[in-house]
Amino acid sequence: MTEFDRSDMTASSKRRLAADPLNRTGDDARFFKGWLKRPFVTGAVSPSSRALGRAMSRFVPDGVVEAGDVVLELGPGTGVVTQTLIDRGVAEENLVLVEYSAEFCALLKARFPRATILEGDAYAPLEPGALGGRRLGTIVSSLPLFTKPDAMRETLIGGALDTLPPGHPFIQFSYALTLPVKPERLGAQVELSPWVKLNLPPARVIVYRRTAP
Ligand SMILES: C[S@@+](CC[C@H](N)C(=O)[O-])C[C@H]1O[C@@H](n2cnc3c(N)ncnc32)[C@H](O)[C@@H]1O
Repeated sequence: MTEFDRSDMTASSKRRLAADPLNRTGDDARFFKGWLKRPFVTGAVSPSSRALGRAMSRFVPDGVVEAGDVVLELGPGTGVVTQTLIDRGVAEENLVLVEYSAEFCALLKARFPRATILEGDAYAPLEPGALGGRRLGTIVSSLPLFTKPDAMRETLIGGALDTLPPGHPFIQFSYALTLPVKPERLGAQVELSPWVKLNLPPARVIVYRRTAP
């Protein structure tokens, strides 16, 4: 996993993004292109809706926002959920974003210049120092978990809960009727949001937490 570097971008994409980084009109097309190229990585045909992003961001604890703890976002894509985290009160500089696609990393860098953007695989452990010595407060994931085997999902969420303080959430969205991992496999509790119908397809938010033993 490496910190995204603007020198990786072509001159024309730098110019286009610099001209209007917040213009989202091309996002649906970019996303669909990403899905055609790597359907199991992109995991959806269009970006998440703001309604879904807000439903996820609501689960970030007030204490995390107030303390300025890091919020780690896995699979931020075009940054819809990222923006709702900022609207929720998370400071941009407290966001660490791990994204596989170089094209989405370029978009994220233009849109959220003060966030830390790591290009790479969210299933790999974070390198020491990736959070700049700050406390991790919450993990928010848009990863398409069901494209991975059970054991990988379990390792991802279990490992995430190991790194979070007790009671702090791992927040995931899913289109599926079943849970990506049964909470008892993780020694965790789960909380579900109502289905968010203003998303294509409708999705719900799944929150895993582990209380102190
Ligand atoms: C369903 S999309 C996220 C949509 C995002 N919330 C948005 O609105 O644009 C899943 C995202 O996870 C990224 N992704 C998938 N597997 C990944 C991995 N192993 N590591 C990092 N990012 C990954 C994809 O590139 C894609 O951007």
